[in-house]
Parts: sequence; structure tokens; C-alpha cells
Amino acid sequence: MIDPPFFTVSTPEGFYELQLAAHSKDPNAMKAFVAGHLEFAPFAEWAKTAPWTASYAEETYNSLNSFIFVSASGAEHAVRWSLLPQAQVVPITQEDLAMLGPNHLAQEIAERVAKAPQRWTMVVTVADPGDPTADPSTAWPPGRRALEVGALVVQRIEGERNGPCREINFDPTIVPNGVHVSDDPFPAARSAAYARSYDLRTSELKYYPYHSEAAGGGER
Ligand code: HEM
Repeated sequence: MIDPPFFTVSTPEGFYELQLAAHSKDPNAMKAFVAGHLEFAPFAEWAKTAPWTASYAEETYNSLNSFIFVSASGAEHAVRWSLLPQAQVVPITQEDLAMLGPNHLAQEIAERVAKAPQRWTMVVTVADPGDPTADPSTAWPPGRRALEVGALVVQRIEGERNGPCREINFDPTIVPNGVHVSDDPFPAARSAAYARSYDLRTSELKYYPYHSEAAGGGER
């Protein structure tokens, strides 16, 4: 889940082109990309104007990708989900946020959670027939059925260096019973990219001195 309300592009191929343009030495590459991907404009506008906060705890996170929830009777519903912060949201300008320094968000969430668990309400939004499920760059119109289904409670933060997250592949196609992927092509594309990333991360033993055989095994 990420905090934009819609994704940058409408297809995995478009996302690949965005990576090429963003890393190109050609000064016109981004301009050409934007001209060929009209769906990028709302994202660019959001990135310029969104109300920022100075804490991960104050942000909303969105699945953006659509999944299918299957009811006990076998009925299928296309859904997207979001986590809405229970913490009070304090807006901050992008300039003021930048002045807090590059590690502010990681430090702040660790301090905040050390003081008290942080909570988000999980809301599942159900598509109306005809809503686009295969395009995460398009938000569904307002007024869709939205259900509060639970809460995420973060009680502890662990650093990447000596925490267990290195061994987790955050593959969005691994879903519990009663949930499956929809016609949204992104989860499959993400699955392939995350597997490659996982392989690379798990081969970096030397950067994980407290959590690797290289360090003589397993102090956690
Ligand atoms: C709906 C769109 C997407 C969402 C919500 C999303 C969300 C996320 C999240 C939450 C993470 C974990 C970040 C962290 O560990 O701090 C992540 C990692 C990553 N994402 Fe995405 N992502 C999306 C699209 C994509 C696409 C289209 C690609 C490429 C095809 C991609 C490639 C990656 C890679 C390579 C990682 C690192 C994986 C790892 O090492 O575990 N993501 N993404």
C-alpha cells in the first residue's frame, strides 16, 4: 500500500517506461513520457499539491490494485482497500518537511511507536458494476460502498538491518483464502519484480551482521 490516491500509470508497461524516462540522460525524456501517458497528469498534480504530514502515522495508505473478495456463499466482489490514520493529521508544507531532514520519517515513527501503539482503520471499498478494476491510475467515483473491517495496530518497529523483514517477500499475489487477484495486471508484474528484489536482498548477507550466517548466526 502506498499513500497516493491513484497510481502513476495505467499499465505495467507504462511503469517500465516511467523508470526508463526517469533515469534517462535525455533532458526531454520525461516530457515525452508525460505526453504519451495522459494518466500521469493527475498523479503529478497530486504529488505537487497533496497535503503532506511529518509522520507515517498520519498518512493514508491505499492498495490501489483491485482484488476479489469471495463471500461465504461464493459471491465475488471487486474491492480496493485503504488504511486511514487514527492519529491526528497535522498538515505540513513540502518545504518544511524537507527541512526536517532525510531520515525524519523513519526516526519519527520509531519514536512514536515506542511511546504508544499507532493505529489505522482498514476500509474496504466495493466496486460498482463497470468500475475499472484493471487500472490503478483511475480512482473509483465517490459514493461507493465502504466498510470498516478492522484496524492495523503497529506495536513495534524493527530496523531493516537487524530485523526479520529481509526474509519476507512482500508479494501482492500471496493472499489469504477468500481473496484472489482481479484482472488488474499490476499484482502479477509486481510479483515478478519483488521476487527479483527479494533474491538480491537475501544475497546481501554482509549488510545484515546481526541476522546472517556471515556473522556467525542468528543474533536477532
Ligand atoms: C499499486 C501499485 C504499487 C504499490 C501499492 C506498491 C507498494 C509497495 C510497497 C509497500 C513496497 C515495500 C516498501 C518497503 O519495504 O518499504 C514496495 C516495494 C517494491 N515495489 Fe512496489 N508498489 C506498487 C507498484 C510497483 C510496481 C508496478 C513495481 C514494478 C513492476 C514495483 C516494484 C517494487 C519493488 C522491486 C519493491 C522492492 C521489493 C522488495 O525488495 O521487497 N512496485 N512496493
